[in-house]
Formats: sequence, structure tokens, C-alpha cells
Amino acid sequence: METVLVLDFGGQYDQLIARRVRDLGVYAEIRYYDGITLEEIKERGYAGIIFTGGPASVYEKNSPRFDAGILQAGIPILGICYGAQLMAFLAGGEVTSAGSSGEYGRSPMRVKSSPLFRDVPVKSVSWMSHTDFISRVPEGFEVIAVTDSCPCAAMGNEKRKLYGVQFHPEVTHTEYGKTILSNFLFGICGCRGDWDSSSHVMKIIDELREKLSGKRVLLALSGGVDSSVAAALLHRAVGDGLVCVFVDHGLLRKDEAKMVAETFGERLGVNLIKADASERFLRALSGVTDPEEKRRIIGEQFIRVFEDEAERIGRVHVLAQGTIYPDVIESGKGASAVIKSHHNVGGLPDVIGFDEIAEPLRDLFKDEVRRAGIMLGLPEELVWRQPFPGPGLAVRITGEVSREKLAMLREADAIFRYEVDSALPREERPSQYFAVLTDLHTVGVMGDARTYGLTAALRAVDTDDFMTALWSRLPYEVLERASSRITNEVKGISRVVYDISSKPPATVEWE
Ligand code: XMP
Repeated sequence: METVLVLDFGGQYDQLIARRVRDLGVYAEIRYYDGITLEEIKERGYAGIIFTGGPASVYEKNSPRFDAGILQAGIPILGICYGAQLMAFLAGGEVTSAGSSGEYGRSPMRVKSSPLFRDVPVKSVSWMSHTDFISRVPEGFEVIAVTDSCPCAAMGNEKRKLYGVQFHPEVTHTEYGKTILSNFLFGICGCRGDWDSSSHVMKIIDELREKLSGKRVLLALSGGVDSSVAAALLHRAVGDGLVCVFVDHGLLRKDEAKMVAETFGERLGVNLIKADASERFLRALSGVTDPEEKRRIIGEQFIRVFEDEAERIGRVHVLAQGTIYPDVIESGKGASAVIKSHHNVGGLPDVIGFDEIAEPLRDLFKDEVRRAGIMLGLPEELVWRQPFPGPGLAVRITGEVSREKLAMLREADAIFRYEVDSALPREERPSQYFAVLTDLHTVGVMGDARTYGLTAALRAVDTDDFMTALWSRLPYEVLERASSRITNEVKGISRVVYDISSKPPATVEWE
């Protein structure tokens, strides 16, 4: 399969670049700049290389650099932002800081005729975010685009197939970004476009069938998108050889446990063990109010329940995990990067004996995982599920968790999600939206009587990566309907507030 290397210099758009390349039908893999050598790059026979952006300045002492020999390897390269400056620097050009007058946001750009700009009009809008700029292009290169404040918005050496763009073609604000990437891949690198995630999934299934035939595979199914798609895929590959354990900790959303049991147990016929452990979790959580303590208890109980089930299952050969490509990239970023724990079963490998690990989704981005889920026959509502924390509703109830509070929150949350889903098409819905049950009692009035009920908070955020998030400007009518239904239909809740805090300084969850 032809592959393009996205060489990551610490830019915030590395994954977006790789996704855009894949969307154009070319397989892209991301490697951190100090995680691959020039020799390895040459051996792997990449069709092209993209240098990503990055926060550094090429003249800083410890700035991320690469062996200048990469420019002589005969592989077409596109440098983006910092990547373009690095290319200029390595090839003997000059990079200068614009000081306080950097260029950020949309910029009108003028381009010259170049293979990189085929079908791009002379004037269009590009999206910039830089302080440094290329002040002198290296020998053999020419300036092929400018903006009012950037004398070199793009440079190219047509003969050597080396190009650098100061703007970001991967973001949608660059009007012809997709055309430019496509020109690089097909016109300059000569790619054919042989990547398609569906046929890749079929290939994974065939490979797994061969590799795992006759083996017993165990998967902890959380009901989230990744573990669900992994389950559907492994089931196609090994059928009854797959055993899924689904731990119902009693902290799930309304009808969630039922949906997992119906989808996997009844519809797909997966060998599913459903452990109903809600009593056990509630008992362990009794009297606990500290959020971190709640998380710790839930994590520990989860492992205990899993251990009990595993004992009953007996010998397994393979432990399967729903690791996806962004998790793999994160763990390859070296010691300094924080590795996000991506599943809720941390510690499992220590308690269960197995010979190998299978991670069938480790090459796929989230959107490709969702497409695979649909292809494998999973219901839309499961595949498009919003992220849900492992400790579940326990971290959406401030203070002590009880069966009564869980019942109230489940109803309030279901009402809010229903109202948002009914009012907005999927692409206009917030990234995450849910209800929180606070432990704040306030005075209310119902009929002629005074009430003293709990306060529910509605939370909705828009975000790309959940590292930062803006509170969603939901239509008042949606908030109005949700508030009125919750106070009328959920006994014990007499007041509803809407959370208008962004992240930072607040977090998405309340605990
Ligand atoms: P915060 O609250 O940190 O949330 O802004 C960012 C994203 O992470 C999810 N989240 C969790 N997921 N276990 C998880 O598996 C957790 O303990 C946890 N806490 C937060 C949250 O739902 C949001 O999508």
C-alpha cells in the first residue's frame, strides 16, 4: 500500500493532516521526528513526506530538526508552517522572526503557476498562524505565493519536488487547501489513491481470522465506540472464539446496558457475559464524596469484577483492546508527552493470564472506526455515541452517589439529550452534552406548596479534542423545553441551570 509519512515536529494539526490525506485516498502514518531515522524512511519507500508545523523557531537551540539528507533522498516533501521553515533552513535559506507582527487567521493570498497550485485561482484565502517567516528562499527554490504581510507564503523547487507552505492547507479555512494537498499527493508524489478504510477493515478481519483461529479471545466491552467496534470486528473474525465481558456498574446512562446486551448478545450473537455489579459498586461508593476517591474505587471494583468473571471463563489466549490510532501516536511521543488512558480497564493485563494482545483498530482514526462500525452492522446511535467517562454517572453527581440520585440523573440526562437530538441535526449538535445532578437544594414552588429540591445543571460543549472546549450556544427553545420537562417529570429536581463555563478554566465534567 502506498504510504505518505507525516513527520511530526510537535504541531497541533498533525492528526488532522493525516486524516485529510487518508480522506483523499492515500494511507498516511504519523511518526514523531525523533522516533524515525533517515535510513528507516528510505527503507520504507514512502510515496511522499509531509513536515508538520510546530511551536518552535528553527534558530532555537533545541528546536526539532531532522537530518538534512532527507532533502536529497529523492522523496517529494511538503513542509507546512514550521515544516516549511525547517525545509528552508536545512536547504540553506533564511528564516526571520516577524516579532510582534506575526500573521494569524485568514489571509488573502496570491499564487504563481506551480504544480502545487494546479486549479487554484491566483487570488484565494489561506489560513496562517506564524511569527517566523522565510526571508530568503534556498538556492534552486522560488517563491510561489505571497500575502500582504508574508513575502514567502509558499516556495517550491519543482525539479526536486520539494515544496513549503507557510499557511495550513489542512484546515478548512484555507479555501483551496484540499486541492493543494491533492496536487501534492497525486500530481507531485504520483500517488494512485489505494487507501479505503472499508477494504482495510475487511483485510484486518481476514488477517485476524488466520492469526487467531482456534484461540480464545477476551475483550472488555464498555459499550463505548472503540470497544464496540473492536467487538463487532473480532466477532466477524473468530465468531464464538470471542468472549466479551460487559461490566454493568450501575452508573450507566438510561437504557445503555440494555442496548449493549441487545446489540451484542441478541442481534450479533456475540458470546457476551454481562456482569451486573451495581450493588457492589454502590456499596463501595456509599458515603464517598471526593471525586478522585470515587474514581479510584470504581477502577478497583472494575478489576475485581473482571477478575471474578475471568476465573469463570478459564484460560484465554488473547486479550483484545480497543486501542485506536490517536492512542498509538500519543504513546509514541516520548517520555514528556502525557499518555491518555484510553480505556477503562487499566490493570487488566496484571490479573489475567494471556499470551498475546490484539488491537484490531490500531491503524484507524475515530471517524474511520465509526465508518467500520456502520459497515459491521452496529446501530447508528451506538456508533455516534458521545464520549462518556469510565466512572460514568458517579462523576456527574456531586457529593454522595445513591440509587435515588442515579435514577433522577438518568431521567434528567435522557430528557436533555432527547431535546437536543430532536432539535438539531447531527452535524449541528454539540460535541458532548449531558446533565449533572448537583447536591444543592434550593427553594421552589409547585402548585401552592413550597418545595426544596435538588438543582440539575445542563452542560454542552463544542470542541475538537476535548483539551479545550467552548460552552455551546444552544437555542433558548431547546433549553426551555429541557428545563420545563425536567422539573415537571423528574421528582426531586426543582431547578435547572445551564453551565456557561468554557474549558479552561472549567473542565467538561463537573468532577
Ligand atoms: P474533562 O472533564 O477532563 O473531560 O474536561 C475531558 C473529556 O474526558 C472525559 N472524561 C473521562 N473519561 N474517565 C474517562 O474515561 C474519566 O475519569 C474521565 N473524566 C473526564 C470527559 O467526558 C470529556 O469527554
